[in-house]
Amino acid sequence: MKIDTDKLNAFMGKMLVDVGAAIGASLMLIGDKLGLYKALARGGPMTSAELANATSTTERYVREWLAAQAAAGYVNYDSHSAKFSMSPEQAMVLADEESPVFMGAVGDLVAATILDEPKISQAFRTGKGVGWNERSTCLFCGTARFFRTSYKHHLVQEWLPALEGVIAKLEAGAVVADVGCGHGISTMLMVQAFPKSRFYGFDYHDGSIVAARQNAESAGLQDRLSFEVHSGKTFPSRGYDLVCFFDCLHDMGDPVGALRHVRQTIASDGTCMIVEPFANDQLEDNLNPVGRIYYAASTVVCTPASLAQEVGLALGAQAGEARLREIALQAGFNCFRRATETPFNLILEARP
Ligand SMILES: C[S@@+](CC[C@H](N)C(=O)[O-])C[C@H]1O[C@@H](n2cnc3c(N)ncnc32)[C@H](O)[C@@H]1O
Repeated sequence: MKIDTDKLNAFMGKMLVDVGAAIGASLMLIGDKLGLYKALARGGPMTSAELANATSTTERYVREWLAAQAAAGYVNYDSHSAKFSMSPEQAMVLADEESPVFMGAVGDLVAATILDEPKISQAFRTGKGVGWNERSTCLFCGTARFFRTSYKHHLVQEWLPALEGVIAKLEAGAVVADVGCGHGISTMLMVQAFPKSRFYGFDYHDGSIVAARQNAESAGLQDRLSFEVHSGKTFPSRGYDLVCFFDCLHDMGDPVGALRHVRQTIASDGTCMIVEPFANDQLEDNLNPVGRIYYAASTVVCTPASLAQEVGLALGAQAGEARLREIALQAGFNCFRRATETPFNLILEARP
C-alpha cells in the first residue's frame, strides 16, 4: 500500500498534540487542585521557587510542572528572567472560576474516566451498564464544577428568558423541579434569582443529594429549596410550573418514562426545560471538537449510566434535537421547540 508522506506527517502532528494533551490532563488537575494556576495568575511573573513558595509546594516539582505548562502553551516563559506568567486569556480559562470560559475544573472529570476505565472496558464486553453510583467520586464534583460555568453565565440570563412566559411565573412565585440535579448548582442559581419561587431538586444518586444539601446549607438557601433522593420517574407530584433537566435526560435509562412522569406532575400550563449537550441530528455533522468531547464522555459516562438502569435506552450525549423531540412527543407532550442554544448546549422547551 502506498503511503502519502504528507498525510502521514499531518496525522502524526495531530497525534503528537493529542498525546501531549492526554498526558497533560493530570497536570491540569494538579494545577487546579494545588492552586498553581490561581497563584500564578495572581502573582506572576514568577520563578518556580516563587510559585512553590506561594502555594506551599516543592520547587523541583513546580519547576517541572511549569516547564510542561509552558510547552503546552498554558503559561508563558521568559528565558531572560526565568519567570513564568499567564496572559489574561490563559487566566480566564484556567484560573478564574467566575469567568464565562473557565475550563480549569475539567481535570476531575478526566481523572474519573481513567480511574473507571477497567469497569467500562468490562462493560464493553458484557453490554451491562455502569451506574452513576458506581463511579469514582471525582466524577460528581468534576461534573458540578465543570457545568457550573455555563449555568452561571447562561441559565438565568438567557435560557429561562427564552422559555415562553416562564420568567413572569418565576418572578411571581412558581413551583420548580430540577430533576437529575446532581450537586444542585443549577437549582441554587435559580433560587438566588427568584426569591418568590419554591424549588425542589431530585436525583437518584444519594451521594449527590447529600452534597447538594450541604451546598444549600452553606449558601443559606435551605428555606425555599429542598433536595430529595428520587428518580426521574418517582419524584412527587406538586403541580410544577417548571420542570428542568440539566445535562441528565440522556443519562437516564428511561427518558420517555421520565418525561411521561413530568407530563403527569406538571401544571396544565407548565413548561419542561430540557438542557442537553449541543448536537446536530446526524453523526457526520458532529465530527468537530465539541462533538469529540461529548462522544468521548458519552462512551465512558453517559451511555454506561443509562445502560445500568431499567429500559436502558442509551440515548447518548449526542442525541440531537430530532431524537429528543420524538422522545418528548412519545411521552405525551404536544409542543416542542429549540428555545435557544450555545456552542455547548441545546435548550429545548416541551409543553403539554
Ligand atoms: C451529568 S450529571 C448532571 C448533574 C446536574 N444536573 C448538573 O448539570 O450538574 C447527570 C445526573 O443525572 C442523574 N441521574 C441519572 N439517572 C437518573 C435517574 N433515572 N433519575 C434521576 N437522576 C438521574 C445522575 O445521578 C447525575 O447526577
